[in-house]
Amino acid sequence: MAKKIALVTGAMGGLGTAICKSLSQSGFTVVANCLPNFPPKDEWLAKMKSEGFDIAVAEADVTDFDGCAAMVKKIESEIGPVDVLVNNAGITRDAMFKKMEKGQWDAVLSTNLDSVFNVTHQVLPGMADRGWGRVINISSVNGVKGQFGQANYSAAKAGILGFTKAIAAEVAKKGVTVNAIAPGYIGTDMVMAIKQEVRDSIVATIPMGRLGKPEEIGGLCSYLVSDLAGYMTGATLNINGGLHFC
Ligand code: CAA
Ligand code: NAP
Repeated sequence: MAKKIALVTGAMGGLGTAICKSLSQSGFTVVANCLPNFPPKDEWLAKMKSEGFDIAVAEADVTDFDGCAAMVKKIESEIGPVDVLVNNAGITRDAMFKKMEKGQWDAVLSTNLDSVFNVTHQVLPGMADRGWGRVINISSVNGVKGQFGQANYSAAKAGILGFTKAIAAEVAKKGVTVNAIAPGYIGTDMVMAIKQEVRDSIVATIPMGRLGKPEEIGGLCSYLVSDLAGYMTGATLNINGGLHFC
């Protein structure tokens, strides 16, 4: 049987890399999205190859609807239809609200929330027509609980949760599940960019006393795309070391 195809957006960052590896180990053909002309793309691909992962690349800026449409058309013609989508691309532009500039709001909303519309719109009808599909949206603990200095990011990540539930209802009869993962603080560049003293004070509030590992999110994605997870849809999976119980 032909392998199913999984598209991961923002795939060359910390979580994206771990998700690509985990889905590849779970038997999927993985397509890694990155921004057009992403300079370290070849280096990333070579590293993946050296570790035994054969991963395809699809370039598009996820804030650009037409660019996402062109990316998915290219994947469909060169590799095949997308069976699994992980909406993972995201950025932070943290600032206290009184200091937050309109550009910081717009950048975070378009990269973290509009992107989810832009990419999902290209693949969801095909999944429903074929009677099987999985969409995983990467939200955040800070979308669930809100976070000081992240009005933009918390709003976008909370928006993802509403989107997930609405779309899950629309395709539940079609063999397609749509779920959100809300990770706590995971040790990637995004978290390492927080000022050390602020980061230390956040880690001190995590009951498990440590940052999460990207592999822990990759493993959860592998579960969600499995047939065993076929009855789970519209859910928010919290994976945060006890930082927030809900
Ligand atoms: N709760 C209450 N008060 C807080 C606070 C908090 N969580 N964080 C900071 N403050 C207070 C500070 O104590 C300080 O008070 P004083 O003026 O009385 O000294 C005041 O707010 C200003 O704080 P800063 O000096 O830090 O202000 P700043 O303008 O230099 O920085 C900030 C503001 C950029 C938002 C910075 O506080 C920060 O980086 N916070 C962390 C935000 C965060 O958690 N980002 C997560 C990024 S990773 C990610 O998003 C992944 C994910 O999904 C989990
Ligand atoms: P990361 O290492 O910074 O990775 C983010 C990736 O998204 C990067 O590869 C980035 O590419 C890409 N990207 C940004 N804008 C894009 C665009 N317009 N089009 C295509 N790709 C784009 O961060 P991460 O920690 O792995 O985060 C991955 C996701 O998890 C994000 O949605 C984040 O909000 C979420 N999350 C992270 C944590 C955490 O603690 N790390 C917790 C909860 C949720 P460039 O490098 O070229 O910009």
